[in-house]
Amino acid sequence: MNIQALLSSHFANAMTHVGVDSGADPVIKQSSKPQFGDYQANGMMGIAKKMGVNPREFAQKVLDELDQSQTLNGIVDKLEIAGPGFINIFLNGEFLAKSAQTARTDEQLGIAKIQHDTIVVDYSSPNVAKEMHVGHLRGTIIGDSVVRTLEFLGNKVIRANHIGDWGTQFGMLIAYLEKFESENGENASDMALADIENFYRNAKALYDKDEQFAETSRQYVVRLQSGDEAMLAKWRQLVDLTMTQCQALYDRLGVTLSPKDTMGESLYNPMLKDVVESLKKQGLAVEDDGAMVVYMDEFKNKEGEPLGVIIQKNDGGYLYTTTDIAAAQYRKHTLNADRVILFTDARQAQHSKQAWGIAKMGGFVPQDFEMVHHTFGMMLGKDGKPFKTRSGDTVKLADLLDEAIERATALINERQSDLSEQEKQAVINAVAIGAVKYADLSKNRNTDYVFDWDTMLSFEGNTAPYMQYAYTRVRSIFAKAGVNGDELTGNIIINDDNERALAIKLLQFEECLITTAKDALPNTLALYLYELAGVFSAFYEHCPILTADEPIKSSRLQLADLTAKTLKQGLELLGIKTVERM
Ligand code: ARG
Repeated sequence: MNIQALLSSHFANAMTHVGVDSGADPVIKQSSKPQFGDYQANGMMGIAKKMGVNPREFAQKVLDELDQSQTLNGIVDKLEIAGPGFINIFLNGEFLAKSAQTARTDEQLGIAKIQHDTIVVDYSSPNVAKEMHVGHLRGTIIGDSVVRTLEFLGNKVIRANHIGDWGTQFGMLIAYLEKFESENGENASDMALADIENFYRNAKALYDKDEQFAETSRQYVVRLQSGDEAMLAKWRQLVDLTMTQCQALYDRLGVTLSPKDTMGESLYNPMLKDVVESLKKQGLAVEDDGAMVVYMDEFKNKEGEPLGVIIQKNDGGYLYTTTDIAAAQYRKHTLNADRVILFTDARQAQHSKQAWGIAKMGGFVPQDFEMVHHTFGMMLGKDGKPFKTRSGDTVKLADLLDEAIERATALINERQSDLSEQEKQAVINAVAIGAVKYADLSKNRNTDYVFDWDTMLSFEGNTAPYMQYAYTRVRSIFAKAGVNGDELTGNIIINDDNERALAIKLLQFEECLITTAKDALPNTLALYLYELAGVFSAFYEHCPILTADEPIKSSRLQLADLTAKTLKQGLELLGIKTVERM
């Protein structure tokens, strides 16, 4: 159910009947105040102005047309012109009741799978032999929530974990792994990479001080790139070990990425030569100091001189940008994507503009192929500086999650409860992981956000524990009533303003999901769920459920049931687990 879309189409239809060009938008919005109705049509003034007619008279004409065609009968109780030409729309209670009833018994909660795009979503994308750190956390969590929402709306999503698994550093890493194994025994690789960050650092240190090791490393890169089996085997070992560790984190976090989603840089390596050739042939890449460079009009330095983007170094090596040009082509033509969404932090904004700009210039994808880069701000500590450990190191994700569990354990143990030990563990896990994810998801991704254990683990405010608790409160009504949502029958009846407000809020779930997906802003969904919990609280306070007489009792139970289902589904789309009791 999408009230906004329903009203839009009826208004648009009426507008064409009174002489407006088709395609004009009546601008239907949820009203901000009850006296303005439930929805408003705000587009009349603009359209009237364009047509050179009086806005209020024009609005009246549209209303007369709607009246005559009777298309809004049973949907709307009252339409009223306000101010300079707004139309306030008051929805019909029976319509709301019926719609809520339909949504409640539908497994998609009445939300049709209306979108059918094939969308490549590039997110998480860590690097081999480097541990995933908090910098990858935001992209992983936000990307995963957007992916879930896009799929829920019906799209086909191809997850692309664009891991950094290729490049000159692999010569060094392979050489170091080999050395480590020769010193510590054949099966030492697990041990070597147990602390993957350290492994990388030690390899780099040796590379910098030991010329012979550096020479071996350089030879290994050449061998690796020419497809030497022994080198490839070691390289695969490094990739597998890293990805096993990442997968363990995805599983802990409840992120839907799996090994089959890995499409790392190495996948595109065989395509890079052709990319450069083609750009050269088209005269778009030119030689500069032995390197191949593309100049783009959009990129100039302070003096107004064009800034070149290097796509091949003078030693023949390719770059991060070259790979992304090939990736764009692959996604469009091999994966048949309708569009591409990329999540990384804001520092890569220029990179994607360049790579995608060149991909379009060179004809690797059509000019109108939609590729959107959703960036996000940094995760800050309470001191307002980039989030680091006390000693100034980047925080490892695994350690962060351990701490979350520790803190959630203390929090849950403080509370009185009759939960079994097993239930308690499930609650702790849901709260710990939920808190870390929700703290991020509930904020607008465009801003930096302060990572603060105390606020994220509070039962007050827009937090995971609050939302998870709100869900259990609704569920507890059913435990007390001794009924199951599926057994409920009868009609939803709307008499009270609080019932009405709850029904409308519930029926706005689809509108919320569409906006969430369109803007890739999960905080929209988080806010909606938080508000829904608030509207439900008001309803529960004013409309007794268990002590009400039938048929009111069953009706209110049904509203509570749809609330529980919506909260659960909404949290699931954010990737946040719910529990039945806390
Ligand atoms: N591996 C990169 C990093 O850690 C992110 C890759 C993002 N995806 C892309 N197609 N460039 O910074």
